[in-house]
Amino acid sequence: MRSSRSRFRSRSLLLLATWMFATALAAAAQEPAKKDEHPSLPPGEGRDVMIRVCSQCHEPEMASDQQNDEKGWKATVDQMAGKGAEATEAEFEQIVKYLAKSFPPK
Ligand code: HEC
Repeated sequence: MRSSRSRFRSRSLLLLATWMFATALAAAAQEPAKKDEHPSLPPGEGRDVMIRVCSQCHEPEMASDQQNDEKGWKATVDQMAGKGAEATEAEFEQIVKYLAKSFPPK
């Protein structure tokens, strides 16, 4: 009785140790994300293009204060293009999609 209980305890300890190890590994794997310079911009297709193009004049985070549907974001992006934002048509389109997905209307 006694020995089976202590075996149970050591198995729980092993499980706990495994869990702690896995947690530490997961934390280590997330390390690069913590050094992300734009934590308020969620991951997604078009994110890199958006950061590159929308950083030309101001922090790309300007966009993360707003919520909009695709039409609304297209208007904003068109407005930025009018100010001189440089990108290809395809890149602007990708940016609009990224923004509409990342910062949809409330
Ligand atoms: C050529 C320079 C330039 C680029 C590139 C640029 N912007 Fe802007 N953006 C501005 C300026 C200047 C303002 C300041 C607001 C104004 O004067 O209307 C601004 C303001 C904003 C605002 C706030 C507008 C408001 O009315 O509150 C948002 C959102 C924004 N930009 C998003 C973007 C996005 C998204 C991109 C990438 C597609 C981008 N910007 C690229 C020049 C630029």
